[in-house]
Amino acid sequence: MLVLGIESSCDETGIAVYDTDAGLVAHTLFSQVDTHALYGGVVPEIASRDHIKRWIPLTRECLEQAQLKLEDLDAVAYTSGPGLAGALFTGAIAGRMLAWSLGIPALAVHHMEGHLLAPMLEAHSPSFPFICLLVSGGHTQLVRVDGLGQYKLLGDTLDDAAGEAFDKTAKLLGLGYPGGPKVANAALDGDPERFKFARPMTNRAGLEFSFSGLKTAAMTAWRQSEQSARDVADIAAGFQAAVVDTLAIKCLRALKQEHLTTLVASGGVAANAQLRNLLAKRVARIGGEVFYPRLEFCTDNGAMIALAGGLRLSGGQKPEQHFEVRPRWPVESLVPPQAS
Ligand code: KG4
Ligand code: ZN
Repeated sequence: MLVLGIESSCDETGIAVYDTDAGLVAHTLFSQVDTHALYGGVVPEIASRDHIKRWIPLTRECLEQAQLKLEDLDAVAYTSGPGLAGALFTGAIAGRMLAWSLGIPALAVHHMEGHLLAPMLEAHSPSFPFICLLVSGGHTQLVRVDGLGQYKLLGDTLDDAAGEAFDKTAKLLGLGYPGGPKVANAALDGDPERFKFARPMTNRAGLEFSFSGLKTAAMTAWRQSEQSARDVADIAAGFQAAVVDTLAIKCLRALKQEHLTTLVASGGVAANAQLRNLLAKRVARIGGEVFYPRLEFCTDNGAMIALAGGLRLSGGQKPEQHFEVRPRWPVESLVPPQAS
């Protein structure tokens, strides 16, 4: 079955074709980061308008790469939430309209389920059950994954998401948007030991996160510093080390609690090199293995949406008849594929 995936939940328009027998066939992406960088963050209305402009050329290019015609497609999967309502609408309308005109099913996909399954786009991919660390601009969650649609939320953030903390700290340090890669880059020249930032909520039991205190600590350090290039690098390095260490501590705690040894890290922040290295090292120490999507599939993309849709359709899921976007949609509310 050939599934066209459409992602438009935030500031990336992603299109992909996934073959449920042979895997990913082709994918195209347009990132709006340069546009939103001018405003220091995503402007929802601009994001929606840009998705509308991009999806047809990107679909054409994707099908060309795949050497397929629209008529070869068997289904369309689109992101129906969570995300920005207007942006979601553009992809949902495009997906349902395309599917209707071709007489094929259209499936609503959960964006975070896409992130969670993204490592399965790789040849060496994890098997259920595993623990997934979902770290993006809007989420910091630890989820126990027992199968498709079998998700148990083990821990969540009480305030800012990890990506959001990166973005806000980057803004504070004058590094621009998106903050994660900018902070990581600035940290390359920094001394992570100069500012000793706390590892929030690691001294007490549980798997919850909190990053707003860390963001405030970075702000205090910045205000008390001379605000030199060295200060930028050292605060960025100290901040990144604290976030990454905190995430790793909770991942290891979740694996231990659930008696599992397979970890998946996914979402934009999972593109962070320090996080990838630290998790690999600590999970290897307990005889386990950590899986990541390739870098381009950590951040938003159409491939993970086509994959999630393909796996659900193969599992017997029947598309809904009604049209809906869900800006807020908890991942733990998902259920296995259902023929309803
Ligand atoms: O998954 P994603 O592309 O979009 C959401 O669904 O939110 O994640 C975007 C987030 C942003 O906050 C961005 O700053 C962060 O991921 N990010 C990173 C890195 N690359 C992207 N954070 C830390 N290090 C990176 N290398
Ligand atoms: Zn995302």
